[in-house]
Amino acid sequence: MVKLWRCVICGDPYIGENPPPNCPFCGAHKEYIKEAKDLEVTFDVVLTDKDRTNAAYALNVEVSNATFYFCAAEETDDLEGKLLFKALGKVEAEHASIWKKILKLPEVPKGHDPCFKENRKNLIESHEREERAIAFYKKAAAESDSPRIKEIFNALVEIETDHLFLSEERLK
Ligand SMILES: [Fe+2]
Ligand SMILES: [Fe+2]
Repeated sequence: MVKLWRCVICGDPYIGENPPPNCPFCGAHKEYIKEAKDLEVTFDVVLTDKDRTNAAYALNVEVSNATFYFCAAEETDDLEGKLLFKALGKVEAEHASIWKKILKLPEVPKGHDPCFKENRKNLIESHEREERAIAFYKKAAAESDSPRIKEIFNALVEIETDHLFLSEERLK
């Protein structure tokens, strides 16, 4: 029997017999997927100045990475690479929309990031971008006193670490 599930990190709903092993939208791990019924997911968080600065920085990181991945999905010279970068672009765009909701912005800003034709260069760039994102999210999680902001940053550390693995496997 199908049920309605919901991701605690991005708030998006999913229909299926079982919860997905990762959120199909933001990539959050399975402990963040719960039955939607009676689940509260809030983006209405009181932000300190530090939280606001870090959330705004995170939004820019995600917009920049999503733009890079969507560019690479079009331009990269490898068929599987196109699919990988499309999947990564969708996840990073979802992350940008989490920060848009937290910051109560009317829309997600546009990015202007270029990419490469050569798949290997895109994989190397992906790895560098994910490493930078992880380092920043770890710091931002530690700097916040808000349980919700910490939860989102910590979940993003796990998700972006999964992304590192994807480029590492292909760069071997
Ligand atoms: Fe999610
Ligand atoms: Fe992300």
